[in-house]
Amino acid sequence: MKFKVLRQAQKNTVPYWEGFDVDVTDDMTIAGVLDHINYNDDVIDDTGKKTSRIGWECSCLQGMCGSCAMVINGVPALACETMVRDLEGKEITIRPLQKFPVIHDLIVDRTIIHENLKKINMYIEEYKPVQEKKLKDREKEHVHQYEAAKCLKCGLCLEVCPNYVNGNNFFGALFANDCYLVSSRNQSKSNEIIQSYEEHFGKTCSKAFSCMEVCPMHIPTLASMAKMNRQSIHTSLL
Ligand code: SF4
Ligand code: FES
Repeated sequence: MKFKVLRQAQKNTVPYWEGFDVDVTDDMTIAGVLDHINYNDDVIDDTGKKTSRIGWECSCLQGMCGSCAMVINGVPALACETMVRDLEGKEITIRPLQKFPVIHDLIVDRTIIHENLKKINMYIEEYKPVQEKKLKDREKEHVHQYEAAKCLKCGLCLEVCPNYVNGNNFFGALFANDCYLVSSRNQSKSNEIIQSYEEHFGKTCSKAFSCMEVCPMHIPTLASMAKMNRQSIHTSLL
């Protein structure tokens, strides 16, 4: 099978496509394909020319760390979770995320995700459990908190979002989920978080919801938004 990889030696150099022929097996993921290409001492492209190893990031290889996020056949996805047998076409394209600066080949700089969260002090300073009236409500809240806490900060939701541009004031779905998580676990911060939510998410989100389609953890961002919007209206009425 043929794989076309968009390569870039380093930041600010011109990217170029390079092809590789790989004998794929039925259980191969895109991470497996990249490993296979890089495995031999001599990496050979589809013209028989010797080339350099493809730069890409991974850590867990089981969909838990988010480092292998890239664009596979035009769709933002985790390389270690994408099975080759599920992809269509004789030629598979692999390129880096486009909303982040490229460092090398498929490795991008996602520092901005953490910088944005640091700006807002998005962490639980002192945990005081919220006392929901009914046990059922509390259980429901905990289920949603658990879902929101699964975010890998992989950046796939930002890649696919029409409103996100690197460095703009809109922080994307991962931010909306963190707003819900931190404000629901830390009531003393909730007013501050609601304001940040409005400024960096609420007033710009155009409800494309493609973020939920690509999220590898299937986080219910719509439910986080509904809860944050309710809190926001409630606060403005006080
Ligand atoms: S919300 Fe989903 S897609 Fe976005 S960073 Fe978190 S895990 Fe990745
Ligand atoms: S290597 Fe960790 S999510 Fe793919």
